[in-house]
Amino acid sequence: MSDSYHIQGTDADSSAAADPSPNDPSPSDSPANETVRPGETEELTPTIEEIPESQSVIRSEELTVHYGDEQALQPVTVGIPEREVTAIIGPSGCGKSTYLRCLNRMNDMIDAARISGTVRFRGADVYADDVDPVALRRKIGMVFQKPNPFPKSIYDNVAYGLKIQGFDGDMDARVEQALRDAALWDEVKDQLDSSGLDLSGGQQQRLCIARAIAPDPEVVLMDEPASALDPVATAKVEDLIADLSERYTVIIVTHNMQQAARISDKTAVFLTGGQLVEFGDTDQIFENPENQRVEDYITGKFG
Ligand SMILES: Nc1ncnc2c1ncn2[C@@H]1O[C@H](COP(=O)(O)OP(=O)(O)OP(=O)(O)O)[C@@H](O)[C@H]1O
Ligand SMILES: [Mg+2]
Repeated sequence: MSDSYHIQGTDADSSAAADPSPNDPSPSDSPANETVRPGETEELTPTIEEIPESQSVIRSEELTVHYGDEQALQPVTVGIPEREVTAIIGPSGCGKSTYLRCLNRMNDMIDAARISGTVRFRGADVYADDVDPVALRRKIGMVFQKPNPFPKSIYDNVAYGLKIQGFDGDMDARVEQALRDAALWDEVKDQLDSSGLDLSGGQQQRLCIARAIAPDPEVVLMDEPASALDPVATAKVEDLIADLSERYTVIIVTHNMQQAARISDKTAVFLTGGQLVEFGDTDQIFENPENQRVEDYITGKFG
């Protein structure tokens, strides 16, 4: 338990790390083409490795989500371990983004979303009435699929969340540190006043990561952060994620199974219907999954 955990902020402005509007990928309209063979639907008991509560920074308990009448998530109970990289994989439309968005209340922005169950961040219920979602999102930052720098200078992009927070320390130092941590400093240190939009796609994504980590979050959520990038930029972002996990808990949605295998410590596999089917050590999930449907998915038999 951290003594410094306060999610009851007073500011009502939006946080840079959580700006949802231009970047939140639209919902999938292509349902997964998973083929369920007769008998497999009977397997209803997911294999979830229990992470002791004391070691999980975020924990969902019986978390379910409906959009209108459609159930997007079956009850999900899982603990996310601290300072590790947890990958979320699964076919399109299986609820990966929905799950991720529940963790820092980004689904609050979606009118049709109805959430039940509990999400705990360091033991505190993030959906409690007295929780300020903006303050929560500073602790649980988010990076989206499409890089979405603000139309501001590189410096101001990174400083944005800190300014909202009323940070009155050494802003230059914080901006530099965030850009260094995002492995971007050397490339931009002489052009901090240039627009963030003039950077390459890969640089923009690292700028967004710098923006998310500048307010010093504890958890960084990433929804397919490298899927719009070329292989070189992807490799940089992957290296960066490995570095980030020394200080932050990283939860990353990816469609790329090699990427999940390369960069994550734990893997959560969601399958069609919004069910978390297996969660465990990444090596075990990829080499020896317990669930037949997970094995079929990982070996490319569907999805
Ligand atoms: N804002 C929304 N309104 C209504 N339905 C939604 C909304 N967002 C997602 N859904 C539905 O919820 C289900 C899960 O969607 P979600 O975007 O979480 O899947 P995903 O696993 O992230 O898919 P993808 O890999 O394509 O990004 C889908 O059936 C989708 O159509
Ligand atoms: Mg998604």
